[in-house]
Amino acid sequence: MNNIKVVKAEQLKSKPDANSLGFGKYFTDHMLVMDYSADQQWHDLRIVPYGPISLDPSAMVFHYGQEVFEGMKAYKTADGNISLFRPDMNLKRLNASCERISIPQVDPEVLLEGIVQLVNLEREWIPEGEESSLYIRPFIIATEACLGVRAAKEYKLLVILSPVGSYYPEGIHPVSIYVEDQYVRAVRGGTGMAKTSGNYASGIKAQEAAKQDGYSQVLWLDGVEKKYIEEVGSMNVFFKIGGEIITPALTGSILAGITRDSVIALLASWGIPVVERQISVEELFEAARQGVLEEAFGTGTAAVISPIGTMKWENEQISIAGGQTGEWSKKLYDSITGIQKGERDDHLGWRHTI
Ligand code: COI
Repeated sequence: MNNIKVVKAEQLKSKPDANSLGFGKYFTDHMLVMDYSADQQWHDLRIVPYGPISLDPSAMVFHYGQEVFEGMKAYKTADGNISLFRPDMNLKRLNASCERISIPQVDPEVLLEGIVQLVNLEREWIPEGEESSLYIRPFIIATEACLGVRAAKEYKLLVILSPVGSYYPEGIHPVSIYVEDQYVRAVRGGTGMAKTSGNYASGIKAQEAAKQDGYSQVLWLDGVEKKYIEEVGSMNVFFKIGGEIITPALTGSILAGITRDSVIALLASWGIPVVERQISVEELFEAARQGVLEEAFGTGTAAVISPIGTMKWENEQISIAGGQTGEWSKKLYDSITGIQKGERDDHLGWRHTI
C-alpha cells in the first residue's frame, strides 16, 4: 500500500546502549496512528513523529478502560533482513480482543502493511544482541469524550516501537514464581482471554507483593475454586511431569499466547505431544514432592521462554530442575529464537520477512 502518509521527525533521538535496554524503556522516532469515527470507520492511517497525544479528559478510555493491545517483535535476521514472527496471529488476536471489549475490528492486512512500513522506517533501531529485538506495541483506545457507560463511537489506534532486551533481568536464567492464593486475575466469561489493560491493572497489587517477597511474578489460579493453574500474567506456563509436557487448557480465562501455540506446534513437529488440560496446584506440588516435576517454564512474546526455577505456594517452596535452566526450556528457547532470527530452518513457515 503506498498511500500511508509519513511525517518524518525533525530530530532523531540517539539510540540507547544495546547492553542496557531492559524492557519498554526506550521508544523510536516514529509511531503509526489511525482513527475511527462512526461515519468514517477506520481512517487516516499515518506515520508521525513519536510523541505525546492530546486527549479530552473525558475520553472514555480513562474512565472505563475500553482498550486492547498486542505485543509482537521484529528481528534482524542472520542474512541481514528484517522479520516479524507470526504477525497474522497477533492481528487475529487483536481483533478477538476488540470483539470482547466492543471495539471496532481492524483490517489485519491494512494494519500489517502499516506496521511493516513503520518497522522499515525504524530499522536502525532494531538491536542485534542475542536476547534483543524491537518490541512492537499496537493498541487501541476509546477516545470519545463522554461519561456514559457504553461502547465509544471514536477510537485511536497507535503502534509504538521499543528496542528491548530480555523481559526479566534473569534473561534465560530461571525466575522465581509465587502462587497467588488471595487475588484472582480472571474468571470464565470475563475478559481473561482478551489482551486488555484491565486484566493487567487488576494483577498489579499481587505482583507488587510478590516482588517485595523477592519473587519475579505471580502464578494465577482459576478465579472460582482457586485450585487450577492459569497463567503468569506476562506468560503462559508449561510443566514437564514424569516425562509428559503439560500446559493449562485454554478455558476462556487464559490468554491464548502465540509463543504458547508455537511451543505446542514445535514440539508436535518433533513428535512430542503436549497435553492441554486443567492442572491443579496441589497436583503440581505433589509431583515436586515425589520428585517427578522435571521442568517448568513460561512462554510469551516479551518473556520468550523463561525457565521457572523456584515456586512458592502457601508455606511450601519447591526448587525445579535444581533451580537450573531445564533441557526443554533451553531447546525451545534456542529453536524459537533461532527461527525468529533466521539462524534455524523455518520449517513451520513462521518468519514474515519484510
Ligand atoms: C507480551 O508478551 O507481549 C506481553 O504483552 C506481556 C506484557 C504485558 C509485557
